[in-house]
Amino acid sequence: METVTVDLGPRSYDIFIGQGLLGSLGDRIKSTGLHGRAGILTNDTVGPIYGKRAAESIRGAGYEVSTLSLPDGEKFKTIESMARIYDWLLKEGFDRKSFVVALGGGVIGDMAGFAAATFMRGIDFVQVPTTLLAQVDSSVGGKTGVNRPLGKNMVGAFHQPRLVLADVDTLNTLPKEEFVSGLAEVVKYGVIRDAEFFSWLEDNAEAVLEMKPKALAHLIKTSCEIKAEVVGADEREGGLRAILNFGHTVGHAVESLTDYTGYRHGDAVAIGMAAAARLAHAQGLCGPEVPERLMALLSRFGLPTEFPKNLDPDSVLKSIGHDKKAENGRVKFVLPERIGKVVITKEWGDEKLTGALG
Ligand SMILES: NC(=O)c1ccc[n+]([C@@H]2O[C@H](COP(=O)([O-])OP(=O)(O)OC[C@H]3O[C@@H](n4cnc5c(N)ncnc54)[C@H](O)[C@@H]3O)[C@@H](O)[C@H]2O)c1
Ligand SMILES: [Zn+2]
Repeated sequence: METVTVDLGPRSYDIFIGQGLLGSLGDRIKSTGLHGRAGILTNDTVGPIYGKRAAESIRGAGYEVSTLSLPDGEKFKTIESMARIYDWLLKEGFDRKSFVVALGGGVIGDMAGFAAATFMRGIDFVQVPTTLLAQVDSSVGGKTGVNRPLGKNMVGAFHQPRLVLADVDTLNTLPKEEFVSGLAEVVKYGVIRDAEFFSWLEDNAEAVLEMKPKALAHLIKTSCEIKAEVVGADEREGGLRAILNFGHTVGHAVESLTDYTGYRHGDAVAIGMAAAARLAHAQGLCGPEVPERLMALLSRFGLPTEFPKNLDPDSVLKSIGHDKKAENGRVKFVLPERIGKVVITKEWGDEKLTGALG
């Protein structure tokens, strides 16, 4: 088993990564010092596969446990689902000392975290991520929330979990395309922070795609270490944390222009990272090997690197100008100087971007 500590002073917590960890969930919750009742939040896909094992483990450690299963899907990451969660917690008699356990992917994790952040002004919560994306990204760092029709993740709170337990065995039931989508964020960590990890991914792409447990554990651990380091330095995204948005400015534009149905998040981020690397090269920030190696690795993982032909570059530029992080239509880009190091540009407008997106 691997352990990564997210160092946030009094809000610090451990991430446990390895095979067959689900059975030890209850004991780990106990060692973390949580008291009171446990409320497992899961969905109708993950609950039937892992809900019983999770509940039995927590019950075995002496806790009273109840479970709420929500319908599966990003479209249920809503205020209406939050109301359902609050009402259920109240009906079940949960109090300030109770805690919530998120069992599922990022959708469940974001909602369970937001419920924990707000129920009775804040209770504890535990992340049991079951997608690759959740294990390497969304379960770590404390961003929680829900969507609104006018924007994704527009309502939320920062609330750190008390512990994260990533059982790599749970990935065996994950659809392959969800696994591959999660790999985009993994590649991102290599580009923004760790050239050695990027090379490791190049050398071990086969083992990763075959989901060899040892390779997965290493990949998740390294990804969590990088995210933990960045979040530890900048919990509330005042500066450094922005580098985690590498590939996301263009990626979000692709997602929003295709109404969040055309591309999985990871696919959109892969397109965005490739575009950002080409843009960096076009602006003389990095050599040609950066976009070349990045696009080669993404392609090996089965991720797209080319801009969708049916998207017109002008509408992409417009969409980027409307990004929630844009100021007066001008956007800071996260661009690679080399593999392992990115810079955040000054606010750039269309003049730098035109031509670089196609
Ligand atoms: N909080 C953050 O910092 C952060 C970071 C990145 C993404 N996110 C959010 O995460 C969400 C995306 O998360 P996701 O990619 O995990 O999607 P998801 O939660 O929708 O899961 C993807 C699909 O896989 C299913 N699934 C999950 N685990 C499974 C398993 N072990 N076996 C079989 N099926 C399984 C789910 O039911 C779902 O159908 C988005 O809402 C995004 O905004 C949050
Ligand atoms: Zn992302």
